[in-house]
Amino acid sequence: MSEQKVLKMGSKLLHSKASIVTEFKTFELHKIIQDLKDTMLSKGGVGIAAPQIGHSIRVICIGFDKNTRYPNEEPIPFMTLINPRYLALSEDMVDAWEGCLSVPGMRGLVSRYQKIQYFGFDIAGKPNEGVAENFFARIIQHECDHLDGVLFPSRIKDFKNFGFEDTLEIETYLQKS
Ligand code: NI
Repeated sequence: MSEQKVLKMGSKLLHSKASIVTEFKTFELHKIIQDLKDTMLSKGGVGIAAPQIGHSIRVICIGFDKNTRYPNEEPIPFMTLINPRYLALSEDMVDAWEGCLSVPGMRGLVSRYQKIQYFGFDIAGKPNEGVAENFFARIIQHECDHLDGVLFPSRIKDFKNFGFEDTLEIETYLQKS
């Protein structure tokens, strides 16, 4: 395991636009992806983006089996997306409580597209695309935001719906860690 330190909101790198990956089969890229997975698993994340561990490149990892931070959500298979992007498949937006390893202990109500088509490349440089809905779609949108220097608090419409997870009275994610 090589768990890395997760940068917190306020760090300049988290508020910067990340660079496109142009070389796939490098030792450095593979090491970053392994570090991302290790860090996400050890911190109990459901997704993570390379800038969160200090690399300003367009790489995200998502997936979980059982997650104590989001106990009501169905598992999502692990995947790495390099240079990810997405298109909304419907105009429907869904509000849900969101958290972030870079904003520890806090949750906010954020509106995201309910259904998207995502595109990216896997670790071998092969195209990886698919359709994601609900929580799966939310994670991809959240992680893609990281690559553009956007953290979830800036997407909260009403700051009454932003606070500490041990204080907020949230129906959905009541489990306290
Ligand atoms: Ni995040």
